[in-house]
Amino acid sequence: MKAVIIRKHGGPEVLSYEEIPDPVPKKGHALVKVNYCAVNHLDIWVRNGIPGKTVSFPHILGCDVSGTLIEGFGGLKKDDKVIIYPAVDSNVARVSFGIIGGFGRYEGGYAEIIQIPKKNIIKKPSWFSDQEAASINISYLTAWNMLEKSRCKKDDIVLIWGANSGVGSAAILLAKAKGLKTIAIASDKNKVEFAKKLGADFVIDRNAKDVTSEVLKFTDQVGVDIVIDHVGAQTWPTSLEVLKVKGRMIACGTTTGGEAVVNIRSFYSKEAQIIGAYLGSKSQLVALHKFMKLKKIKPIIDSIFDLKDAKLAQQKMEKSNQFGKILLQVSS
Ligand SMILES: NC(=O)c1ccc[n+]([C@@H]2O[C@H](COP(=O)([O-])OP(=O)(O)OC[C@H]3O[C@@H](n4cnc5c(N)ncnc54)[C@H](OP(=O)(O)O)[C@@H]3O)[C@@H](O)[C@H]2O)c1
Repeated sequence: MKAVIIRKHGGPEVLSYEEIPDPVPKKGHALVKVNYCAVNHLDIWVRNGIPGKTVSFPHILGCDVSGTLIEGFGGLKKDDKVIIYPAVDSNVARVSFGIIGGFGRYEGGYAEIIQIPKKNIIKKPSWFSDQEAASINISYLTAWNMLEKSRCKKDDIVLIWGANSGVGSAAILLAKAKGLKTIAIASDKNKVEFAKKLGADFVIDRNAKDVTSEVLKFTDQVGVDIVIDHVGAQTWPTSLEVLKVKGRMIACGTTTGGEAVVNIRSFYSKEAQIIGAYLGSKSQLVALHKFMKLKKIKPIIDSIFDLKDAKLAQQKMEKSNQFGKILLQVSS
């Protein structure tokens, strides 16, 4: 099969499009022909490498897959369109689970065929296209989980960083559909316009205005109920600062680094909470599908690249030039 593999960590140049042997199915696993695989920031972490995290080379990236079942099992038939729930058993202590194509034992979806535990395979909901079905399993599921963990209720005010990102754009759509008031953060005029089109109630260009003072002005100095933070070190101090009394910051990412300096006194004196979110469960993914159907939400797709152009797709993400999800077309 054709696949994009990495033989070592490094920049986009380590992505190599090659012919490699097809996977041989193991007990309890099934083979899926990959139709589309979304690019996620995890792919870039794994490609670059993170100290203390290991993969065995050669390795195939890609955690967000829609495809076609090669052989039926259980209630599923050969040629059924399917999506893959990306969490697999963890081989690391005190980590909830591994993710396919991530820092674990499972190869990912930058390949014509993926091998996956049967329990991870879900029939593709009819209301999503193959492209849409490959856009939901990481960013949308994580945003959904973050909102659920925030214990949000109608009319709560939520601040969402990185409006153009996979997680950020998903969080804006889902938060609006849940009846929340959304403050979105963007970094230029086009990204501000994009956030407004997604339905954000108030958008702050972080390169033109001070985020803290704008948020406090918008909330009459009260602060926000919830912050969705996937950016990490550079945004944590502001995220905690703008929380109201008993506010909740939900964190899922470290795009700008994993070690933040925060004001601990301000944090405890308003009895705020920091809550971690890691992907979401398979049952949450199924509930999310139904919610998106009910609310007529379609995932926002920025662009589609051929598998062989994975390098270009990742470079686009690294420059943060995307508006929503970037996909790789593997076959269709
Ligand atoms: N825990 C989980 O289960 C989970 C699941 C999904 C994703 N994640 C993590 O969440 C993060 C986002 O993932 P993604 O796929 O949505 O990434 P992405 O599409 O590449 O988006 C990255 C975003 O970060 C923003 N950003 C970068 N530097 C910033 C700064 N200094 N201040 C404010 N915003 C900044 C960018 O906004 P600008 O363009 O405006 O700079 C962009 O919107 C990644 O770290 C990813 O690993 C975690």
